[in-house]
Amino acid sequence: MTIGVRKETAKGERRVALVPSDVAAEIKAGADVLIESGAGETAGYPDQEYSDRGAEIVKDADSVLQRSDVLLTVRFAAADSENAVQQIAQLKENAVVIGLMEPYAKAELFQAMAERGVSSFSLELLPRITRAQSMDVLSSTANLAGYKAALIAADRLPRLFPMMMTAAGTIVPAKVFVIGVGVAGLQAIATAKRLGAVVSAYDVRPAVKEQVQSLGAKFVEMELETESAESSGGYAKEMGEEFYRKQRELMAAVLAETDAVITTASIPGKPAPRLITTEMVEGMSTGSVIIDLAAERGGNCELTKVGETVVHKGVSIIGPENIASQLAYTAGRLYSKNITTFLKALRNKEGELEINREDEIVAATLVTYSGEIVAASLGAGEQN
Ligand code: NAI
Repeated sequence: MTIGVRKETAKGERRVALVPSDVAAEIKAGADVLIESGAGETAGYPDQEYSDRGAEIVKDADSVLQRSDVLLTVRFAAADSENAVQQIAQLKENAVVIGLMEPYAKAELFQAMAERGVSSFSLELLPRITRAQSMDVLSSTANLAGYKAALIAADRLPRLFPMMMTAAGTIVPAKVFVIGVGVAGLQAIATAKRLGAVVSAYDVRPAVKEQVQSLGAKFVEMELETESAESSGGYAKEMGEEFYRKQRELMAAVLAETDAVITTASIPGKPAPRLITTEMVEGMSTGSVIIDLAAERGGNCELTKVGETVVHKGVSIIGPENIASQLAYTAGRLYSKNITTFLKALRNKEGELEINREDEIVAATLVTYSGEIVAASLGAGEQN
């Protein structure tokens, strides 16, 4: 089995799917590892480190695509649609591609993979079961995003996060409010706390309250009916417009007292809920910042522009794009561990790849197989 890793081609992508320290285990498991020259460079992993561990370095991406039985990628197909058509055409028939594919978009690219006989796995679709935890790329990414969001907030805010007693007087700590306390939100809370801010948070899932308090932050109570807000998979469910209207109304008062807001609220497969209106932004003090981690899914704030900083009446609204890429070294390392653990789960006792569609993880993540789009959760890709 030949495992290939090419230089990522999606705009702004700095991560790499396999880091040198995970190469040896693949070779030990009987695989040959091909790395496109420079694949790890933007993440801080030079070619030499790969070849020292037994990988073959090849000059161009086409050779990687044409020779690989298994292509390990960070972003592919819809997640890199500009390059996908040409790359899919280069793939070996019956190749297996594993990566982040944005499975809810661009069904035609999955069709192209299916027609080529390619089996593809979309890691965004991993079920949240104990066995899949060590493969969960979304959690790894969210964790880093939450950390970085707190750092960006601390950097952009024209006041300090911690309390400080100086000869010139005592400086009061900044107030940080985190909206949406999943993996990213929890890390944002922990990081902002470590930096000395006074942190409060809100989530529609009632179970979150205890987690917020265990990090030393305050859970903001709101009079909202949230009992049905959590799906059986542990994610938030989409609530009606009336719910969001009331939530915005209750949050406006909190925002008016906040220096930095970090929003992470999202609903899988849906646009992010709009939780901060222009009017609410106008109620905040000059110099305040909003870091909108839902920017790529449409944003929690209606003024957010992905990849940009919008300044509205003195408030900066920052919409980071691919924030994990800003921490490409660590992000690559976690991603590589996640994806190689996934690959290991696809191997049978003899070390050969076996796509067992009875397996819960395979069934959830397999998007194309044997000439067809098979992902049950996609309704065959119709959620364009
Ligand atoms: P996510 O990225 O889908 O959403 C972020 C947060 O936004 C969620 O906590 C969600 O409840 C919240 N949210 C949605 N609408 C909101 C609104 N209107 N107002 C305020 N907050 C809103 O979530 P993430 O980080 O993927 O985690 C979701 C859950 O899954 C968590 O309980 C997490 O602990 C759990 N999880 C379980 C794993 C496993 O069992 N393997 C792995 C990772 C997470």
